[in-house]
Amino acid sequence: MSKTLTRKKPAKAAKKPASKAAKKPVARQSPKQKLYASLVVQLLSLLKGEHDLVANAANFSALLFNSLPNVNWAGFYFLREDELVLGPFQGNPACVRIPLGTGVCGVAAQQCETIIVPNVHEFPGHIACDIASNSEIVVPLFDGERLLGVLDLDSPSIGRFDDQDAEGLNELVTVFVAHEEGLDR
Ligand code: SME
Repeated sequence: MSKTLTRKKPAKAAKKPASKAAKKPVARQSPKQKLYASLVVQLLSLLKGEHDLVANAANFSALLFNSLPNVNWAGFYFLREDELVLGPFQGNPACVRIPLGTGVCGVAAQQCETIIVPNVHEFPGHIACDIASNSEIVVPLFDGERLLGVLDLDSPSIGRFDDQDAEGLNELVTVFVAHEEGLDR
């Protein structure tokens, strides 16, 4: 039996005292935030009326690969027993099985946390599937609290991914999982 990996509870932010004088500043979206907002709309449109996991994951990875600049691999690894197994992706052929705790994907899955790696050559145990990759981001997928797998993106540029990518990709995977009622459980 494999251990069920669960999401860590986010720390609760302290409530700020209400102040009538303090006006909320109008939040302006950066170009990257605008791009992710448009990807949410496009993803919802791709998913509409379709609940086949493989088909939807394939289209989701194609959307990311073709819309995000400077990305040379985008795709999924799904949790099967105690290892990650390659799912739909765009990019060069990749390693099929990744043990939990190994590589960026295995560590992100084991820790149930998004990991941004500015330089993959400095990440102990990084698994090089494409020699062109220099930076990486791995975002876990959850069904409620339970880990389903990870979304992995690689870039040939050092430091390609930042907190806005993490936020945008987390929103996209949340939309994706919420839609996939027929996920393999
Ligand atoms: N670099 C990943 C392996 C997957 S490929 O990048 C597609 C890792 O270290 O887990």
